Amino acid sequence: LRHQLLAEVQNSDDIRTLEQLRIAELGKKGRISAMMRTLGQMAPEERGIQGPLLNALKQQVAAAIMDRKAELEEAELEKRLQTERIDMTLPPRAIPEGRLHPVMQVFEEVAAIFGDMGFTVAEGPDIEDDWHNFTALNFPEGHPARETHDTFFFHPQQGAAPKVLRTHTSPVQVRVMEAQKPPIRILVPGRVYRNDWDATHTPMFHQVEGLVIDKAIHMGHLKGCLIDFVKEFFEVANVEARFRPHFFPFTEPSAEMDVKYRKVGESIEIGEGDSWMEILGSGMVHPNVLSNCGIDPDEYQGFAFGMGIDRLAMLKYGMPDLRPYFEADAGWTRHYGFRP
Ligand code: PHE
Repeated sequence: LRHQLLAEVQNSDDIRTLEQLRIAELGKKGRISAMMRTLGQMAPEERGIQGPLLNALKQQVAAAIMDRKAELEEAELEKRLQTERIDMTLPPRAIPEGRLHPVMQVFEEVAAIFGDMGFTVAEGPDIEDDWHNFTALNFPEGHPARETHDTFFFHPQQGAAPKVLRTHTSPVQVRVMEAQKPPIRILVPGRVYRNDWDATHTPMFHQVEGLVIDKAIHMGHLKGCLIDFVKEFFEVANVEARFRPHFFPFTEPSAEMDVKYRKVGESIEIGEGDSWMEILGSGMVHPNVLSNCGIDPDEYQGFAFGMGIDRLAMLKYGMPDLRPYFEADAGWTRHYGFRP
């Protein structure tokens, strides 16, 4: 029997046959196992002879199966190495690399600069109610300033004021002030929507809003903070800036910030020069807005600013037209996009 079994092991030439053999002989219901069970009924002297013999047989067969299995596995691996060999000398196939959209790049640059000044990022919904987009921001109903926003309205629900696609990121000021006690220092990146379409206006565009609320905040903080930002963002040591009086319902006084620039060939250099460029809106948060959000204007003051990210990107990276930003043209993205 021993010779027969060992021969069978040697003749198994794949792992499955070998495994079947192992089960048939050594498995619980296998032949050798059955023979082992007969030992119990034997007379002690006979068992003394048969026991060691059977045990030796069992061990020999088990060892032979293990060896054969190792051999077969080795052979299989060898075969795979032969057939699946990789030609290391072939040139690799190029993997197309994704690009970061300039808007995202500029978001990140702006967030990093204000992050160093202690601002944290806050966000709000794109679909806003009338309260957050207008009323709480001191746009009374019927106020002409509402008309300047080219608002997209949703169908009104049962007499309620219609929801809108937010026309600016300022509603997030309200949401944060309603939810959080001063001191507040937030930066709000987001999409905003206005019904407008030409080379420098798209119906969806991006803003970054800033809001600082604390005790004894004044216009000097606003100016210092924004001038520092412009220097960092445009990477220039000197920036000539002016704050030109303006009107926003939610700030008083309000100012637009202009910076000097000069044209160099096709592109624009910000900082010094002979012309002014408007880059953002800003102002001291209106006392009515603070009250609307449950903050006492006699105790706290603050400033806010809002800027168009798409335009900042145009100025810094020299894109002439805003519309291709949102056309998902891979050629444009490859040209103007950033390595992540
Ligand atoms: N929300 C204003 C706009 O979209 C910008 C702004 C923000 C102005 C904060 C002042 C303060 O035009």
